[in-house]
Amino acid sequence: MQKAKVLNVGIDMGTSRTVVAADNGVRTFIPSYVGYPKDAVSKKMLGKAIVFGDEALKYRMGLDLYRPIEKGVIKYSDAPEENVEEHEKARRITRELLKHVISLVTEEEEGALIIRGVIGAPALASTRNKKALLEISKGVLDDVLIVSEPFAVAYGLNMLTNTLIIDIGAGTVDLCRMYGTIPGEEDQITTFKAGDYIDEMFLSLIKKKYKDANFTVTMIKRFKEENAFISEQGESISIDLPVKGKPVSHDVTDELREACRAIVPDIVEGIRKLVATFDPEFQDELKGNIVLAGGGSQIIGLKKEIETYMKKTLGYGKVTKVEEPLYAGANGALMLCKDMPDEYWDELKSHGRKRSREKGKKEE
Ligand SMILES: Nc1ncnc2c1ncn2[C@@H]1O[C@H](COP(=O)(O)OP(=O)(O)OP(=O)(O)O)[C@@H](O)[C@H]1O
Ligand SMILES: [Mg+2]
Repeated sequence: MQKAKVLNVGIDMGTSRTVVAADNGVRTFIPSYVGYPKDAVSKKMLGKAIVFGDEALKYRMGLDLYRPIEKGVIKYSDAPEENVEEHEKARRITRELLKHVISLVTEEEEGALIIRGVIGAPALASTRNKKALLEISKGVLDDVLIVSEPFAVAYGLNMLTNTLIIDIGAGTVDLCRMYGTIPGEEDQITTFKAGDYIDEMFLSLIKKKYKDANFTVTMIKRFKEENAFISEQGESISIDLPVKGKPVSHDVTDELREACRAIVPDIVEGIRKLVATFDPEFQDELKGNIVLAGGGSQIIGLKKEIETYMKKTLGYGKVTKVEEPLYAGANGALMLCKDMPDEYWDELKSHGRKRSREKGKKEE
């Protein structure tokens, strides 16, 4: 009999995008949206009972549309007992999303597969958040390991010593300092002022300035992704928004800058804390190795803004951006997945078995 092939997969289930990279060379991403047809008409039009990603966004008018991940974790997984039904639903939907992205990387595979996955979670995800992720991956992945997202990024870049990773996503900004070992709680900071926060702020600032304009958060998010900046200089930026059905150009230069700037104070305060509490002998090296990742790292002028701040408060700072902000987390998770020795996975499994046996005993 032929032995099952092991497929390693790195998974970054983000608030805004779910990214996968597998060692069969397939890597891809979809927006983290899942839609269910609202009625028989939309079901007939789509020809399926569930749609994902861009397709779900495109047909959202005819769908019940869900974004099951919020602030980097499965919705309500912080306090599932307070929202039993909603949490159960979010788990079900996240599982569908995971199943879907795994189907994308296994499309071309034939024969038996053992799918090993490493999933990135926000730096300070709680035990409950991680447990929810572990549970939904049962039956989708054969073996699974949950790691801190910025740690996965650092691992992928092989920047494991005296480096500070800042992963700027939609729901969270995760900061994590590395010094050659698996980072602990004291090495990580999570802030919730990230991409979604910029969108909300940008939306409310435009609403305040242009009361007649008609727009949605999806429209201005797209616009932000094309134009985000925080530097002082630069030309003015205008967006076409419908007023009574007719597109009218609106200047939103100041509003966009202000919204993008709003995430900076928490980030720089996080840097200051992580540098100040680091071994003094290596602080300078850490200051020289600040790495920005995640979609938000693409804001024009952000790198310079952080460097300026660091110079003022810490004397010096050198910031770089990862080359592939979108894939950095999934790439690193994949590398971790491949580098974990077989014995480690076996050990994980035997722990799992032991735990369930112990649980079984208690319940007897
Ligand atoms: N060019 C850009 N400029 C500014 N922001 C951008 C740009 N491109 C994407 N973004 C923003 O980056 C965020 C998505 O980044 P990313 O895919 O790293 O997040 P995520 O992993 O889904 O979220 P999280 O890690 O918080 O769960 C969104 O808020 C998106 O609008
Ligand atoms: Mg992310």
